[in-house]
This record gives sequence, structure tokens and C-alpha cells, in this order.
Amino acid sequence: MEVEVMKVIAFNGSPRKQWNTATLLKKALEGAASQGTQTELTHLYDLNFSGCTSCFACKTRGGKSYGHCAVQDDLAPILNKIEEADALILGSPIYFGTVSGEMKSFMERLLFPYLTYTSPPQSLFARKIQTGLIYTMNVTEEQMAGEYNFGQHLAWNERVLTLIFGAVESLLSFDTYQFEDYSKVVADRFDAQKKAKRREEVFPKDCDNALDMGSRFAGKQP
Ligand SMILES: Cc1cc2nc3c(=O)[nH]c(=O)nc-3n(C[C@H](O)[C@H](O)[C@H](O)COP(=O)(O)O)c2cc1C
Repeated sequence: MEVEVMKVIAFNGSPRKQWNTATLLKKALEGAASQGTQTELTHLYDLNFSGCTSCFACKTRGGKSYGHCAVQDDLAPILNKIEEADALILGSPIYFGTVSGEMKSFMERLLFPYLTYTSPPQSLFARKIQTGLIYTMNVTEEQMAGEYNFGQHLAWNERVLTLIFGAVESLLSFDTYQFEDYSKVVADRFDAQKKAKRREEVFPKDCDNALDMGSRFAGKQP
């Protein structure tokens, strides 16, 4: 009898393939792989694609693309692959209080076709799967909740992913180390030493949490 291997796919919404977001995503996939899961990491910035074009082919009654995105670009084969995935992990840096532009475009294309315009809204995704959101950002946890106040946006992402896929978990990495060499950039508001210390002391814990997320997702169905 053939044993079905679980598949976990992660998406990097940072243009940087070796930095904070990518590192956490790789850790999550390492955790999943440690449980015998097949894993894949897609860097969204390698792909040529747009956000939702509002064509409504995914909503057209009796249409051949009903419940699926009809736009044919680099994302089309990836959206097909997602139909077979057992878990998805979306990682993004915070850009101006929300996910990066590529991640936003990806989420529009991923989520809108499965969302029905019914009351209440429902999901056309055929199964329930586990999903994860990994965010990295410059601000501290206190700043995010306080003066910058973009927690609501992140809560909204959780709400939509839960509706479409059945389950979601978020992992937030705060006060990240942003530059190779802080002395070479004009960024006086950051204390480079403090940032380096946090990268050494706290970021490894974020990595452990990502590893744990991946390994838990491997055996789990919502
Ligand atoms: C265009 C741009 C906008 C950013 N906006 C924010 C922001 O609004 N809030 C924040 O906390 N960090 C912001 N940052 C910092 C990044 O979120 C942070 O450095 C992140 O960890 C980078 O991820 P990466 O290392 O995976 O590329 C911004 C960075 C860039 C390049």
C-alpha cells in the first residue's frame, strides 16, 4: 500500500532569501521535514504575478473557473499545487504596517477564489488544512500594539485564513535585525548594539518557535 506523504508549502513574502522571514520559514519547514513531511519553499519575489484582477471568473455562475483563479501567470501552477497541500505557511516582513506588496497580491489571488459571497461567507476550498502566518518586523511588541497599532490587520488575516482553510496560527518576530551593517545606513533611530544583542538572544527563540510550528503542523489536521 502506498503511504501518502504530507506536504507543507511555505511562501516567502520578503525579497530577501536569507534574512529574517526566510530564516523562520526555513526553520518551520525543517520542523515539518523532521516529521517525515515533504516540504517546499517558494520565494514570491522570484515570480512574475499580479494581485487579483477583479475579473470574477472565480465567481461566475456555472463558469469553468468557478472557485479557482483564472489569471494565467507564474502563480497559476502554484495555486494548483496548493490544492494538494496539507499545510501552508505564509511569511512576510511588515511593510508600512501590513504584509509586503507581493504577499498581499499573493493572498488576494489565493483567498478570493475560495471565498463565497454568501451570508455567511463560506469556503470553496475542498479540505480543512492547517495554516501559519509568520511576520517579522522592526517594531517591538509594545509598539505594535500601541503607537503603530497594526494588530487589527494581522487579526484580519487570521480571520480570513481560518474561514478559508479551517485553522491558523500566527508567529510574530519583533525588533528584527534589518541591515548587514548599521553603520553604513542612515538609521539613527535604531540602536545597532541592542539590535545585535536581540538577534543573538531572542531571534533564536523565534527560530525555535518556528521549528515547533512546522513539526506540529506535520501531524495535524484541523
Ligand atoms: C519598505 C519597508 C517598510 C517597512 N515597514 C515597516 C513597518 O511598518 N513596521 C515595522 O515594524 N517594520 C517595517 N520594516 C522593517 C521590516 O519589516 C523588518 O526589517 C523585517 O524583519 C524584514 O524582513 P526580512 O529580513 O525577511 O527582509 C519595513 C522595511 C521595509 C524595507
